[in-house]
Amino acid sequence: MKKLEGKIAIVTASTRGIGYACVETLAAEGARVYMACRNISLGREKAEALRLRGLDVKTVYFEAYDRASIVAMVDDVVKDEGRIDILVNNFGGTSPVDDKTIFDTNYERFIRYMDAHMGTVFLASQRALTKAMCRQKSGTIINIGSVAGLIPDVSQLAYGSSKAAIIHLTKIIATQAAAFNVTCNAVCPGMTATEAVKNNLSPEFQEFFLKHTPIRRIGEPQEVADAVLYFACSEYTTGQVLAVHGGFSVPTPVYGDMLLMKNKR
Ligand SMILES: NC(=O)c1ccc[n+]([C@@H]2O[C@H](COP(=O)([O-])OP(=O)(O)OC[C@H]3O[C@@H](n4cnc5c(N)ncnc54)[C@H](OP(=O)(O)O)[C@@H]3O)[C@@H](O)[C@H]2O)c1
Repeated sequence: MKKLEGKIAIVTASTRGIGYACVETLAAEGARVYMACRNISLGREKAEALRLRGLDVKTVYFEAYDRASIVAMVDDVVKDEGRIDILVNNFGGTSPVDDKTIFDTNYERFIRYMDAHMGTVFLASQRALTKAMCRQKSGTIINIGSVAGLIPDVSQLAYGSSKAAIIHLTKIIATQAAAFNVTCNAVCPGMTATEAVKNNLSPEFQEFFLKHTPIRRIGEPQEVADAVLYFACSEYTTGQVLAVHGGFSVPTPVYGDMLLMKNKR
């Protein structure tokens, strides 16, 4: 028997990257997974390819910047399935063009990032809880945070702040939903080898970053999905934040420099 047989899951922003790996992983364990995506024709294409591999994958519309679509996403799945067992709030992203420092980030852009990141987690979680999980007296919400929400960066003011807020929101939801036997946890990836990261990462930046990463490589989307699967299967773990980042930030802050010094000797 597969671990998630009979379960209904939603993964937001999942046509690519970590979200897509979560869809594949949850479906491989027997869940029926709704790929929640804004590009519905691309989603249908990807879902069809997964169905041809024997996985039970469907699509539902989701646009992070459209609040009505977030509520409708949950309602559509509840209408079709009568329940939701797993909600993976995976949407997230930033741009170095408009998400910089406290000195040069425009207020409206800051709020827009906060709204899209926190708003999707808040709205999707609230709706899934009230329309399905609390009534079922079961369910799990898994939020994708980021190492940027755990450690302040020299840029990414809005992204880091919104991810930190998502981490705290995770713990609050865990506290308040526990009475309904619903769990809520967060997975915080470090730098992960999605197509976007692979295409935009200069060798210099990668070296600079890996200098402070004890497991000296960037992570794979599958490794984040494996952490999501753990939370999806656990009925007793709640309010937890699991960093999947190769140990980045675990050692002393001078770790990378000390290693370089040692290697030079
Ligand atoms: N990759 C990393 O290094 C890393 C590190 C830490 C945290 N994370 C977090 O992990 C999560 C997934 O990131 P990722 O790197 O896997 O992303 P990604 O590879 O860039 O994929 C982005 C996904 O988000 C969808 N998307 C983008 N804007 C959207 C919108 N407005 N509405 C709905 N869907 C939208 C894209 O859909 P389309 O196909 O329609 O474009 C795509 O499916 C995010 O929360 C991110 O913050 C990632």
